[in-house]
Amino acid sequence: MESIQAIKQRFGIIGNDPKLNRSIEKAIQVSPTDISVLVTGESGVGKESIPKIIHQLSHRKHGKYIAVNCGAIPEGTIDSELFGHEKGAFTGATNTREGYFEVADGGTIFLDEVGELPLTTQVRLLRVLENGEFIKVGSSKVQKTDVRIVAATNVNMFEAIKKEKFREDLYYRLSTIEIHLPPLRERKEDIHLLFRKFASDFALKYKMPTIKLTDEAVEVLLKNRWNGNIRQLRNAAEQISVLEHTRTISAATLKGYLPSQGDNLPAVIKNSKSDSDFSSEREILYKVLFDMKSDLNDLKKLTMELMKNDNANEVQKKNESLIQKIYRDKEEDDDDDYEETVEDLEVLSIPEKMNQLSEAIDESNDKYYFAEEVEEEETLSLHDKELELIKKSLERHQGKRKLAAAELGISERTLYRKIKQYDL
Ligand SMILES: Nc1ncnc2c1ncn2[C@@H]1O[C@H](COP(=O)(O)OP(=O)(O)O)[C@@H](O)[C@H]1O
Ligand SMILES: [Mg+2]
Repeated sequence: MESIQAIKQRFGIIGNDPKLNRSIEKAIQVSPTDISVLVTGESGVGKESIPKIIHQLSHRKHGKYIAVNCGAIPEGTIDSELFGHEKGAFTGATNTREGYFEVADGGTIFLDEVGELPLTTQVRLLRVLENGEFIKVGSSKVQKTDVRIVAATNVNMFEAIKKEKFREDLYYRLSTIEIHLPPLRERKEDIHLLFRKFASDFALKYKMPTIKLTDEAVEVLLKNRWNGNIRQLRNAAEQISVLEHTRTISAATLKGYLPSQGDNLPAVIKNSKSDSDFSSEREILYKVLFDMKSDLNDLKKLTMELMKNDNANEVQKKNESLIQKIYRDKEEDDDDDYEETVEDLEVLSIPEKMNQLSEAIDESNDKYYFAEEVEEEETLSLHDKELELIKKSLERHQGKRKLAAAELGISERTLYRKIKQYDL
């Protein structure tokens, strides 16, 4: 059996934390079996390496490995993506299509963000887990497949079960073995190690001398809460590597790249509705931007449908929920239903959308991180927050738009537009 050390090297995993080592050891141990594994841990802790290790060390390694981000696939198409469909199963199904479970026969499927699966899909998944059987959408023929499932989640599955968003039987079926990855703040020894690794990677990438932290800066680094875990740490290292002229980084400089101190205190949990906090103003801005991106993607999808299908009525019927989601006037919506209040739409729906997008974002550049949590106390509107953030950033950079835009994670053009819009 390959040693933990060798595996870490092979999969580019940095760190020596005993809990991390134990998780990798567990992955090695379960790999020769077909046992279902559930990988848990906050966003950005490195969950994606575990299914890769399991697949590569298993007898399935010559079979296919398919990673599916369950939160990123629209509810209307997920069954067809996973299980395939028959010709004519729905409008646009002009051909029979094989789903991932058919394609990955003999291999491994990684179901990332499995908590996002619609309940109907959960029923199909349970069946395939239990006896390897599935049925294409629009078919009545039972098919067989031999797929090993590794799933991952960053949400509290018990909560999801309690809210009847996730089937309890499926949860137990998926989590025969649970592999938990600790948050970065619980792996203090690894923080500086990771930072140095990223600093040297980015120095190489951008052909600049490696940044180095002063002792006080290292202290700041270790005290930070790292809600976005390794993804956030890497982003900070990248930003500093690119933006700082002086290559020795002081505590004060480093702080400029981290959420402010107050936000690093543990979140006060108000009620079950929100188990969390926005850890920084910057995140709020990112969330707004990604929310917009999500709407844009929805619109693109709808436009595609309309282009493919000249019966607008039918498209409207088929995409009713999507249309409602896009066109509902958020300000005027005064429904009292918990899911529907303006506040929730503005705040709580964002992490949901973020989940859907996270894969796309991961892929694009791993640049931002998101806390899965929302602070109830947030009184200022996002609009005000955005304005305030832009002002602060511009002040901090003496009005230099380029630097402010980089800090805010938006393009200079967008910043320029916002300056005009807010009359700054
Ligand atoms: N131990 C580690 N060493 C080096 N890089 C890591 C480590 N863990 C995670 N990463 C990097 O951090 C980023 C986030 O990891 P990822 O697996 O996508 O997190 P998750 O799926 O838990 O949100 C990725 O770019 C990944 O390569
Ligand atoms: Mg992930």
